[in-house]
Amino acid sequence: MNEEEIVVIFQPKNKTIKVPAGTDLIDAAEKANIIIPSPCGRIGKCGKCKVKITNVELPFTLQEEYWLTPDEREQGVHLACQVKVHTPLVVETISEEKATETKILTYDLATDFDIDNHLQKKYVDFQTPTLENQIDDFKNLKTSALGDNNAVDLPLAIFQNLPSFLRKNEFRATVVLENNHILALESSDTSERLFGVAFDLGTTTIVGSLVNMYNGEILAIAARTNPQAKHGADVISRVKYATSEPGGLGKLQSSVVESINEIIDELCEKSSVSFREIYELSLAGNTIMNHLFLGVSPRYIAEAPYIPAFRQSQRFHAEELGITIQPRGSVVTLPNISGYVGGDIVGFILASSIHKADKITLGIDIGTNGEIVLGNKERLLCCSAAAGPAFEGGQISSGMRATEGAIDKVTLGNDQVFYHVIGDTDPKGICGTALVDAVAELLRVGIINETGRIVVEETAKFPDWLQEKIVSAEKKIAFNIADTNRQDRVAVQITQQDIRELQLGKGAIAAGIEIMCKELGISTSDIEEILIAGAFGSYLNKNNARAIGLIPNVPLERVKYVGNAASLGAKKFLLSKRERDEAEKIIRQTEYIELSSRLDFQEVFAEKMFFEKI
Ligand code: FES
Repeated sequence: MNEEEIVVIFQPKNKTIKVPAGTDLIDAAEKANIIIPSPCGRIGKCGKCKVKITNVELPFTLQEEYWLTPDEREQGVHLACQVKVHTPLVVETISEEKATETKILTYDLATDFDIDNHLQKKYVDFQTPTLENQIDDFKNLKTSALGDNNAVDLPLAIFQNLPSFLRKNEFRATVVLENNHILALESSDTSERLFGVAFDLGTTTIVGSLVNMYNGEILAIAARTNPQAKHGADVISRVKYATSEPGGLGKLQSSVVESINEIIDELCEKSSVSFREIYELSLAGNTIMNHLFLGVSPRYIAEAPYIPAFRQSQRFHAEELGITIQPRGSVVTLPNISGYVGGDIVGFILASSIHKADKITLGIDIGTNGEIVLGNKERLLCCSAAAGPAFEGGQISSGMRATEGAIDKVTLGNDQVFYHVIGDTDPKGICGTALVDAVAELLRVGIINETGRIVVEETAKFPDWLQEKIVSAEKKIAFNIADTNRQDRVAVQITQQDIRELQLGKGAIAAGIEIMCKELGISTSDIEEILIAGAFGSYLNKNNARAIGLIPNVPLERVKYVGNAASLGAKKFLLSKRERDEAEKIIRQTEYIELSSRLDFQEVFAEKMFFEKI
């Protein structure tokens, strides 16, 4: 055995691996294919990566002392991101995240638009030179592909191989053109086969669609969890990693490129298309994702005045970025509006046509940042509200992402708490949608008041079954949602602190909406349509979202889920030159409001943290 390598055994799966001395235990787990949640990016700031070390006692770091109770420390519980492997370890995993199938969210928007593709394929019967017809090969190509009067340009490699290629193929071939530029020559008649891929590059999930470039038909869809997530759940932790870790930017870029290539492989396999037949990839991501994907430092987006390195759409050869489509194909990103309103929101606007709407429309995509668009064809505003991690289960005592074992729906009624667990298994924790449900229900029954406080002193007025759910331990007051089988958590609860975290998130989004309404000179009741995009939004109960004040108090018929609008935007961008021009128009037309520069923000935010009496 290499003396530098140390054995780690993970229980209960009994997986044994060897890692170099000094490896972080959380990385060792990953090497053993055990995914331990790490929403803070493995820096000891979330307390979610608990494991139990059973064969040896190790000292605790300051972060561990902060996150672990004395009881847990007594039992040998540690934070996996805080332990360096220097001695053989036997580790019991407590909070493994199952690599469940990434859910693919489709969209619910009109998909008809004119395909106006700038790529084309032509099957050409070239002239066969003879003693009488002394046409040279280059002229032969140019005349046959583009006619006499057009200038043509082509890659050097095609130019150099042209004589042998034409003869080998008996002067018949398919020419692939991008305007007057010859991208490739393909043997035989492949003129019917021209493909592209449209990507939604999300902070959490990456979704790719393989598209027929002639008719827009989607041939396959595939998704992966964004591998950058292990370096932080939100964009700010990724910026930190990219700018403070040696080689961090390169690691983030290559991991996302690798994931995109895996998705392309899967798409090709599912639809019997070769990667060489894919000539274009469009990508809609938030501004920071776009920077990381292109390997550009996002450092200055994270510092005032929050300036991105680029806003316009960028186009590069696939091979320069290591993307495995046709090497001479292109990768093109949707443009960004600002440092915190990116190509995914441009895709959302493009897909939903808010910028052409007569009705005053509010578009929201809720994540750790809530991106908000408000207006119509006359005037369109956007902003980004720092909602924090609560909606994704972060900073919530029993919080987790919406993966297997997460409670995603809660209702109170008939003398009990009803809940639904993703994967229909035992509950392990609660995700953002259920947190919204639970708080709305607690408000409705009066267990929490308008300030968000659990009214312990009024417990006696509630029926017994509700009273029993209100518990207090170690000076913490909580409402029990469900019991669990976990070692580190006996019950899934909503604590007073969790309610505060939710109030911060919903307060930020509601304040963003209010300020944009002020700017437009309307009140929230004038909003004629609300479009909710994104994964979190699609599973959100709109009645409860309205009850806690996350969305404005308008009739629910005005509220519509639109699903993965960014994917549809990326597809439109891929297939139509007009839509690309439209996207550039959107970034010129949309006015960005930087909330932190608004003097009224703090006041509105404080006001919006409160709940309205239901
Ligand atoms: S505390 Fe370990 S990943 Fe957050």
